[in-house]
Amino acid sequence: MAATTPHAPNASVLIVDFGSQVTQLIARRLREIGVYCEIHPYNRVDAAFLDVFQPGAVILSGGPASLSVATSPRPSSAIFERGAPILGICYGEQAICSELGGAVSRSDHREFGRAQINVTADSPLFDGVWAAGKAYPVWMSHGDRVDALPDGFEVIATSPGAPFAAIANDERRIYGVQFHPEVVHTPDGARLLRNFVVNVAGLSTNWTMAAFKESAIDAIRARVGDAKVVCGLSGGVDSAVAAVLIHEAIGDQLTCVFVDTGLMRADEGRQVVDLFRGAYNIPLIHVEAEEMFLAKLKGVDDPEAKRKIIGAAFIDIFEKEAGQIENAAFLAQGTLYPDVIESVSFDGGPSVTIKSHHNVGGLPERMNLKLVEPLRELFKDEVRALGRELGLPEAFVGRHPFPGPGLAIRIPGEVTKERADILRKADAIYLDEIRKAGLYDEIWQAFAVLLPVRTVGVMGDERTYDHVLALRAVTSTDGMTADYYPFPHDFLGACSTRIINEVRGVNRVVYDVTSKPPGTIEWE
Ligand code: XMP
Repeated sequence: MAATTPHAPNASVLIVDFGSQVTQLIARRLREIGVYCEIHPYNRVDAAFLDVFQPGAVILSGGPASLSVATSPRPSSAIFERGAPILGICYGEQAICSELGGAVSRSDHREFGRAQINVTADSPLFDGVWAAGKAYPVWMSHGDRVDALPDGFEVIATSPGAPFAAIANDERRIYGVQFHPEVVHTPDGARLLRNFVVNVAGLSTNWTMAAFKESAIDAIRARVGDAKVVCGLSGGVDSAVAAVLIHEAIGDQLTCVFVDTGLMRADEGRQVVDLFRGAYNIPLIHVEAEEMFLAKLKGVDDPEAKRKIIGAAFIDIFEKEAGQIENAAFLAQGTLYPDVIESVSFDGGPSVTIKSHHNVGGLPERMNLKLVEPLRELFKDEVRALGRELGLPEAFVGRHPFPGPGLAIRIPGEVTKERADILRKADAIYLDEIRKAGLYDEIWQAFAVLLPVRTVGVMGDERTYDHVLALRAVTSTDGMTADYYPFPHDFLGACSTRIINEVRGVNRVVYDVTSKPPGTIEWE
């Protein structure tokens, strides 16, 4: 059985995952409402699992499969036997119908994207949000559709492509919607989900980050016991929050390893050491490895080669340092939900694919360490909220994300100490200006990129021939897509003047106006 985090019985929502790309958004919406939930793959949720989890409500997610295929995933019948309220979303709705005696078929009229639905009956699901006889915008993404309802169900909304756009069995408290209430393109979706968990399931909305902290601490203690844990600090928010949380759970059983690659932002190394050794008194091994990293990067200009060299060097150092911690059995990582793409394979068991930028990839197997990943269920802004809950300073918690390979991927071409120093100085000035303008928190990520291009300039009466510096700033919610930030021209002009005046080696500044896609956030 898949592990669950300890939680109160009959008070939490179990999200049964059928592999939708947006399942994690259901979790996010519920947590915003203040209800604890967990996502588990459909084929792990059986009677024994339900006995342990004791859900107060169940949501069946969407998914890419078609119920017209005999081998497509099905929810365990135990889910329907328990009597907890159930909401099926898209594939989840179809699965309910198919399991309870209705019919589902491939539709000629597929619906993708925005659609209108007509509400045909009042329902506890719509209470205070939607009224019978009116039409509302929703987001649809389906090929199959329900053709016949199981006994005891009624239609409560229709759409051109889905005559059974929403269905209800009030007596059994089972509901289904063909559209996706969890995405923002269904403007009233969050309120419908609230109606389901609060009005229908009667759950209370008192879940908070403080409660998460407590249950995460219990779970860490239960998993780790009296073993030793090693945690690699990157200087970023995620690993810092994971480390402080784990330290709160198991104290000095945790040792942190901070490898300063020399490719960090200005003053970052010192801040990490001060915070961990000073403020938190967490055992910390600090490795100053600038020379070693720069030596390995000498003459290398291919972006992927740089990443691989840095990743491998990091692992070597980390392994050596962590190997000296006696009886270390666990490696802690600050993996977040968006790092974990949990996909369900329909012909075999569930498969977990992890898209991970983390520097310590491959290490757990090499060192024979088990993983502790207490942030796996959280999104970036939730990690920040948890960091605040743990008392981490605002300047640390609110920091923009920073990639594992550091400044090396912001210096196209060969990385040298001279270039890294120029970039660090220019980057610090740019961020200082952003902070002074009160824009730092509006921006997902802002940084400078030092180009391997030199241009001619004139300063005083002298000709200069120096680097071009590109400034980048983007807004984003998860780093997967991003828009460039529309700074006022005056602001950009002021940054350019300050950087050129204060940083020797830069004589021209440009601003990157590329969104993602088609660009990526980083330049390499
Ligand atoms: P891209 O450049 O792919 O970046 O649009 C998306 C987000 O991921 C960060 N990033 C990394 N983070 N190790 C990391 O820990 C990496 O190798 C890495 N590469 C990109 C990037 O800063 C942005 O937030």
